[in-house]
Amino acid sequence: MADLGYDGKVAIITGSGGGLGREHALLLASRGAQIVVNDLGGSVSGEGGDAGPAERTAKEIEGLGGVAVPDTNSVATPEGGEAIVQTAIDAFGHVDILINNAGILRDKSFHNQGPDLVDPVLDVHLRGAFNVTRPAWIKMREQGYGRVVNTSSNSGILGNFGQANYGAAKMGLVGLTRVLAAEGAKYNIKVNALAPIARTRMTEELLGAFAEKLDPKLVSPIVAWLVHEGCPVSGEIYTAAGGRIARFFIGLTEGYFNADLSVEDVRDHFDQIRDPEGYTIPSGPGDEIGALLKHFS
Ligand code: NAI
Repeated sequence: MADLGYDGKVAIITGSGGGLGREHALLLASRGAQIVVNDLGGSVSGEGGDAGPAERTAKEIEGLGGVAVPDTNSVATPEGGEAIVQTAIDAFGHVDILINNAGILRDKSFHNQGPDLVDPVLDVHLRGAFNVTRPAWIKMREQGYGRVVNTSSNSGILGNFGQANYGAAKMGLVGLTRVLAAEGAKYNIKVNALAPIARTRMTEELLGAFAEKLDPKLVSPIVAWLVHEGCPVSGEIYTAAGGRIARFFIGLTEGYFNADLSVEDVRDHFDQIRDPEGYTIPSGPGDEIGALLKHFS
């Protein structure tokens, strides 16, 4: 089969001055996409700002024969999100691909997480995705085409100690992904979520012995496939780490039904309620309601 290309496609990649975003940008640019390299250039905890990272990635792409413009607006405000999308429109006339990747960390156990740790993390990861996606979405709807990837994390999907702020934001992105997948379907806009594991400045002290195996380059191929026009799925969650790609999904157990349900029934059938045997993977609320209706008929 032919190699995958992105000629004529314009991609915004937030937080692509370094780490995973830079790898996504380099891969898509090498396959013909025109790139907006957005990065505020702050610290891992989101302090400060520096035009250097965005400019360096954009120059690197140009040095390799690709096309890119740097953008240093913050995803954390609606004005910043508008400005990032405007950079794409001014430079390339349209936007086809958005990879919400910008991120910061402010870890502490929950009882120590005040608003100074919670608000900035929600602002960058969760509100940041709203801020950039909404202006891009309006363009994508008008043109009847779009591909969006939201960067989630197993910290939220599975729950990781000390990351209530980050985990909630990252699981919020799963909800956003699924609703946008439903809303985007009739406009040929596909929206998926990514849960990566990679060696970057964000994780260099956390990954331990496996760090050397977790090259961020190995995350970019699934991202590139999810934003390709041939991508067959929407509303799904993929995990990528060190060359292994897999799918997370939300399953529904067969459950227990009793039209005269009591609290003792719940206690007595709790194993059956929890039993994953025969689970289904609902693609939307309609599938869950469908499974319920069979008990009523
Ligand atoms: P990184 O720190 O190298 O990259 C994040 C980038 O986002 C930085 O370049 C930073 O300057 C930029 N950024 C931060 N706030 C911004 C803002 N307000 N506006 C624009 N840019 C901003 O870290 P990494 O690992 O590459 O992270 C990329 C994404 O992947 C993040 O969303 C992170 O939460 C997520 N992730 C990473 C994992 C890993 O193992 N590295 C695991 C799970 C999720």
